[in-house]
Amino acid sequence: MIFFTLVALSTILLAMATWIGVRALERAYSAGGELIEVEGGTIHVVDIGPKDTAGPPLVLLHGASSNLLTMRLPLGDRLAQRHRVILLDRPGHGWSRADREKATLAGHGRMIELALQRMGIPPVILVAHSLAGALAVRMTLDHPERVNSAMNEFLRLFSSAPMTGRKVPHDTVVNGHTMRAGEILGVFWGAGNFDPDYIDRPFEVDFQRPNARNTTFALGPHMCLGQHLARLELEAMLKVLLEVIPQYSLIEEGIVAAPEVASIFGYAKVPVRIG
Ligand code: HEM
Repeated sequence: MIFFTLVALSTILLAMATWIGVRALERAYSAGGELIEVEGGTIHVVDIGPKDTAGPPLVLLHGASSNLLTMRLPLGDRLAQRHRVILLDRPGHGWSRADREKATLAGHGRMIELALQRMGIPPVILVAHSLAGALAVRMTLDHPERVNSAMNEFLRLFSSAPMTGRKVPHDTVVNGHTMRAGEILGVFWGAGNFDPDYIDRPFEVDFQRPNARNTTFALGPHMCLGQHLARLELEAMLKVLLEVIPQYSLIEEGIVAAPEVASIFGYAKVPVRIG
């Protein structure tokens, strides 16, 4: 009996000591930023640096068992001298709270995405440390429009597979056009990339679009299954190309379109002037 009483008392004492310790730490390190309620919890965000710079804002994601200060003290404050820097406590860390069922990379990525949307933040450059690397990759795959604006804009302007054929399964009317069962249609989803109902200012090149989407990988149930791999390959290709020839200009009169290859569109020759 005495043993159980002692165990119960020590448990209560430990719980009280933890509670007092947590309150003391919270007072010593109060949340310095905004607490944004999102589905699945709360995200603590600190937004520093000039808001009117030309480049995209930088979002710094801290690593395991730490909080936004580990990104702010060595890096964030210095970057904020020239850039808008958004620091956040990852869900379940620092002042950010997360429901247990959201404790997956996809769940945390979605919460951060929702918080950035609430703040009206345009596409960003994600900078991730240590364990947050996996979170940054998940966010890039799940919310490509958030982190990939330049690539999305390239993909929008140049659909390499802009159309395909489809067989009409039964008589139907689309936008006043009657289509009979068995007819073959050309479906030009690449045209959506220049449709003002789908994208604002379609004929402007803008790497900072707030909603940088495209129809290049098609839409709906047959949307390209390999689009994430395709994006990675395109990014790797661009990176290497720019490392090898950082300065170049096109020799437009020498450009030759690829010969007919069904619905795929590309070039056989793209000569450039280096330097
Ligand atoms: C820039 C590169 C790519 C572009 C522009 C592209 C574009 C497309 C488009 C427009 C479709 C829809 C076709 C349709 O509905 O008839 C599609 C489907 C598909 N793509 Fe891609 N793709 C690319 C790269 C890749 C890669 C690298 C893979 C595989 C690793 C891939 C795998 C697939 C598959 C499996 C489908 C069929 C999905 C389905 O019907 O459910 N694609 N792609």
